[in-house]
Amino acid sequence: MVELTLPKNSKVGKGRHYPAPDGAEKVRRFKVYRWDPEGQGNPVWDTYDVDVSACGPMVLDALLHIKNVMDPTLAFRRSCREGVCGSCAMNIGGRNTLACTHGWEEVSGAEVTISPLPHMPVIKDLIPDLTLFYAQYESIEPWLHTVTPEPQKEWRQSEEDRQKLDGLYECILCACCSTSCPSYWWNQEKYLGPAALLQAKRWLADSRDEATGERLDALEDPFKLYRCHTIMNCAQVCPKGLNPAKAISEIKVMLVDRTI
Ligand code: SF4
Ligand code: SF4
Ligand code: FES
Repeated sequence: MVELTLPKNSKVGKGRHYPAPDGAEKVRRFKVYRWDPEGQGNPVWDTYDVDVSACGPMVLDALLHIKNVMDPTLAFRRSCREGVCGSCAMNIGGRNTLACTHGWEEVSGAEVTISPLPHMPVIKDLIPDLTLFYAQYESIEPWLHTVTPEPQKEWRQSEEDRQKLDGLYECILCACCSTSCPSYWWNQEKYLGPAALLQAKRWLADSRDEATGERLDALEDPFKLYRCHTIMNCAQVCPKGLNPAKAISEIKVMLVDRTI
């Protein structure tokens, strides 16, 4: 097996250990990636022995407990704590998921390892820089394009057509899929990635949209769409149970269909 040696400046060092308080009833160890842009050093793994009897059942509950009780310097994103906003996406126990819907008891092993979404620049600790990810989302023009005059009341859609958006509209743009996709890791600047492509399919599937041809033209590119090699990591990690790989293959079929 090939042994990879990381350059010195990309090694993650050993950080601080925060012991459990006296009298802790049930202790679980959390190993958390830390990096401070204002510091000089490499990232480190801090370990926190959390009294989980004093916090809720989700990984986000444990992180909030760490921040409120043990170490206020820990930085992470969260908002809804209901699996709706997508902001608490991170890598937990080796898998991209939402901290607010993933229970710490679901993580096997002696410790719960938490790091930022992989292969993205890190702003601080568990906060990835999603600038490119959002720019890619914007590039698919995620809004209704129409040429016919606007109806007086609303754009109507039959129940049957509305159902064609199921499995697409639920995406919360958490980036778990794109950051688990090897093709996206290595071609991030050119390949749109599973999240943006699933969203592209959402607008291609919308019966009210009148720009299908232009949307397909924009995607017909050797990199933007065709770097998907159907590895399926995206579908395995999506916390909303969506299948970006399927959406991508359906776009490919649409591109073929319009040529025959
Ligand atoms: S199926 Fe395509 S988009 Fe999904 S992880 Fe694999 S290469 Fe990436
Ligand atoms: S498809 Fe799933 S994993 Fe990907 S961004 Fe949307 S909700 Fe997140
Ligand atoms: S905090 Fe909103 S999805 Fe987790």
